[in-house]
Amino acid sequence: MRSIPTRLLHPGMRLARRVYGRNGEVYLNAGVELTVRYISRLQELGFSHVHIEDRLMDGIEVKDVIAEETRTQAVRQVKGLLRTASSACARAIIHEPALTRTVDDIVEQLLSNTFSMLNLTEIRADGEYLFHHSVSVAVISLMAGMTLGYGRERLYSLGMGALLHDVGKVKVPKQILDKAGALTAEEFAEVKKHSTYGRDILRDNPDAAEIAYAHHERYNGDGYPRGQEGRDIHVFAQLTGLADVFDALTSDRCYRRAKPPCDALELLSGSGNWWFEARLVQAFMHSIAAYPTGTVVELSSGETGIVIDTPKGHSFFPNVRVLMDPEGAKVIPHDISTMESNLWVARALNDDEGYQLLGQLAPQ
Ligand SMILES: [Fe+2]
Repeated sequence: MRSIPTRLLHPGMRLARRVYGRNGEVYLNAGVELTVRYISRLQELGFSHVHIEDRLMDGIEVKDVIAEETRTQAVRQVKGLLRTASSACARAIIHEPALTRTVDDIVEQLLSNTFSMLNLTEIRADGEYLFHHSVSVAVISLMAGMTLGYGRERLYSLGMGALLHDVGKVKVPKQILDKAGALTAEEFAEVKKHSTYGRDILRDNPDAAEIAYAHHERYNGDGYPRGQEGRDIHVFAQLTGLADVFDALTSDRCYRRAKPPCDALELLSGSGNWWFEARLVQAFMHSIAAYPTGTVVELSSGETGIVIDTPKGHSFFPNVRVLMDPEGAKVIPHDISTMESNLWVARALNDDEGYQLLGQLAPQ
């Protein structure tokens, strides 16, 4: 299975994973053969990518670090929460048993899954950014927290706060949040208030309140709202801030295309002790795959292949199924570890290049 842009889909391809609609309902099931009608509907709904079955990747699964149902449920709950117009209601929902159960589930699943790296595989419709983003930020910051050796209780506090870090946005006027063009200085000042609003909404839960308040602070003092510096910034808020920046960089937004994870990781690794404390950046990089499963890569040997997985702690050194030799001739597919073979990824192909190349190589 591999993820491909919906604009490159053609009839006859088979979905490898479920596609969910806006309310968490199953829109298309795994195994469905795509038709012209399904493809145009997926494009209309604003899905940028879906997972399809691919014989070149037989036996390779793109695993998420948490169960599909848990992620969908978390997204639904955050959506309910952030759609709540009044902060009084938002305050009440923090004590919702369903929300605490979801955070517990996420923590439990991450703790029992210590071998997988995070592969960015998220598939979402247009207009759903904030909800999916909140869940991704929780998952990514928790993975960094695990690398730092946090126990269950700290992870729970971090997860709850990270999931709700942008809750203050319920009090920012919707027309500003949804504005497609550049914000005026006044509008930006209004958006920035979400961290203070978030702190007020979450005041019953000190860790979560601090995360909401300080997730836009930066190590060098350039952040807001207080312009805190260095270790004065709560470590949970820094982890949430890191995850927030990473997820935003790797997501398509109306004003810019997503960066591949390898570029976002490189950018963040250069930001140690500048935007975020270096040891936190390192912990963060420990569990995120720079080249998600299914990425087509050119190796330093000149060979080309497809990433099958990435060993924990070695983001930039994936295991690769080699498909072409340095001259570009098809070879019998074989799997190698770039780390053990002293190789590295010279270049990751973009979606279109990868799609074209795999099309030529696909077994007939
Ligand atoms: Fe924020």
